[in-house]
Amino acid sequence: MGRIQYATRYLIYLLRAKTKHDVHSPFVFALFTTVIQNKKSFYAYRSIEKLRAMLLGNKRTIEVKDFGAGSSVLKTNTRKVKDIVRHSAKPAKYAQLLFRLVNYFQPKTILELGTSLGISTLYLAMANSKTKVISIEGSETIATLARENFKLLNVENIELIIGNFDKVLPAQLQKINCADFVFFDGNHRKTPTLSYYEQCLHYAHNNSVFVFDDIHWSQEMEEAWQTIKQHPRVTITIDLFFMGLVFFKTEQAKEHFVLRF
Ligand SMILES: C[S@@+](CC[C@H](N)C(=O)[O-])C[C@H]1O[C@@H](n2cnc3c(N)ncnc32)[C@H](O)[C@@H]1O
Repeated sequence: MGRIQYATRYLIYLLRAKTKHDVHSPFVFALFTTVIQNKKSFYAYRSIEKLRAMLLGNKRTIEVKDFGAGSSVLKTNTRKVKDIVRHSAKPAKYAQLLFRLVNYFQPKTILELGTSLGISTLYLAMANSKTKVISIEGSETIATLARENFKLLNVENIELIIGNFDKVLPAQLQKINCADFVFFDGNHRKTPTLSYYEQCLHYAHNNSVFVFDDIHWSQEMEEAWQTIKQHPRVTITIDLFFMGLVFFKTEQAKEHFVLRF
């Protein structure tokens, strides 16, 4: 998708996005006002952002294997660490939302598809040290750096799995046997995204939370998001433009929200 088209989509989102005054579902209202819009700074934010700043100054070049839809900006397989963190890691605003979602929903286990250097993984893990985070990354060199970052911040509730999602996801799902919270942030193409979604759905329950990154990033991701929303098991979805939240609560009527964030 071209830059102009993407910007136009964002503009349309801004025009369509509702505020708390338009939300009548008590579940979504509480989530929106206490979690999504929460501006409070939590203890972990500072240490993870300090790490991000350090990585943004790291000019070391590494060889990476591109498993996913690739970067719209980084075209070679030799990349500087600072460029990887700049273009791949979720910006603080969205990564911190992941932290608050974990804090609010208290999932026992979290599955992350796409670790990269571990910025979002750290946010997911530091929200609750008792939560086990399983994060999958295909590129071994990137994963090695992510592991160093977890050590640097003394975070021990992360299990990093190196491998292609296509190969390792089924076994990981079987192992946890319950998809409490899944963050889909790798291989942003329609067919793979829907395949990972279907596999996780099999292990989802009434209180599961699925978070999809970059739902409007490309035409393929737009189509994937529409399919995700329409699934009969899905009740509530929340479109925050750069992220989409999906819930399966049977006590909620099916409703799709576009909320300003
Ligand atoms: C956008 S980055 C993840 C960013 C990270 N979640 C963050 O916000 O800090 C996506 C990562 O997924 C990995 N990836 C993409 N497709 C994959 C696949 N099929 N199997 C394994 N890893 C994959 C890429 O190597 C890349 O590091």
